[in-house]
Amino acid sequence: DKPKVVITRRIPDEALEIVRKHAEAYLWDSEEQPIPREVLLQEIRDAAGILANVSDRIDKAIFEGAPRLRVVSTMAVGYDNIDTAEATNRKIPVGHTPGVLTETTADLTFALLMATARRIVEAADFLRDGKWKSWAPMLLTGPDVYGATIGIIGMGRIGEAVAKRAAGFGMKILYHNRTRRHEIEERLNAQYRSLENLLRESDFVVLLAPSTPETYRMMGRKEFDMMKPSAIFINTSRGQNVDERALYEALKDNKIWAAGIDVFEHEPAPPDHPLLSLPNITALPHIGSASIATRTAMAVLAAKNLAAGLAGEKLLFCANPIVYND
Ligand code: GLV
Ligand code: GLV
Repeated sequence: DKPKVVITRRIPDEALEIVRKHAEAYLWDSEEQPIPREVLLQEIRDAAGILANVSDRIDKAIFEGAPRLRVVSTMAVGYDNIDTAEATNRKIPVGHTPGVLTETTADLTFALLMATARRIVEAADFLRDGKWKSWAPMLLTGPDVYGATIGIIGMGRIGEAVAKRAAGFGMKILYHNRTRRHEIEERLNAQYRSLENLLRESDFVVLLAPSTPETYRMMGRKEFDMMKPSAIFINTSRGQNVDERALYEALKDNKIWAAGIDVFEHEPAPPDHPLLSLPNITALPHIGSASIATRTAMAVLAAKNLAAGLAGEKLLFCANPIVYND
């Protein structure tokens, strides 16, 4: 008898086939709708595994309602939506998907940086809305990207991949991280800064830190006040890392020049979210890793983590490897 697993959203066939080799899958077969909480709680009761994503909240109640659960696998690098402490208490490994999405997410981060600086979305709307009366010297102008100073907060894999792109644009690269990354300093000519000095010196502040209790609302009023009035803030990490009210006020009062964000504290953000009412923000619906190849690779890796967990083998990428001690 194959164990039962719950897959909380339609995933590419390639990944589904891997799961079905090892398990009887309950699939919430929707592309857009998240699995309703009551369906998840019902289906998880006799499940040995779950393949989840960033829109699922895998909290204590889920673990309590799933006495047979042996593995949790999310198709994401971030796992802040999963109660990993509870998983660890129960010796349940949590799989995630670092590595496969690094370059794709760095591409989107840089695209958002450029789109915000050069007002690409606003300019496209301007044309479409029939506002283009004439070429004009200062129409839709913004700051240069080439040669500017970028400050990367969170020098993990994605931060490093963004730094590589920045080097190609002749940017001066500053970074802040829990630990110094000397090899990146040498290879990419990046300079370490305290958070405060990074904020004061950068033309582009790019936030790529994971969401943890320590990073919760790490960008608040005080931090935006430290940025240059000409600076641009980019967030492709997690909305929880930013005090959205402070960001709103910084943008509205022109304490910073503009922002580009791919993430919100509460997702999906409604169309009447205050940040979306501002002209100087470019906002996206959490599409950092959304290339066809990468989303497929994430689903496949999540399926492999799930299969390994069901078989009692070590996951390929485990968020709480402490479960393997003793
Ligand atoms: C998406 O945001 C991820 O963590 O992979
Ligand atoms: C993700 O891959 C990261 O560690 O930045």
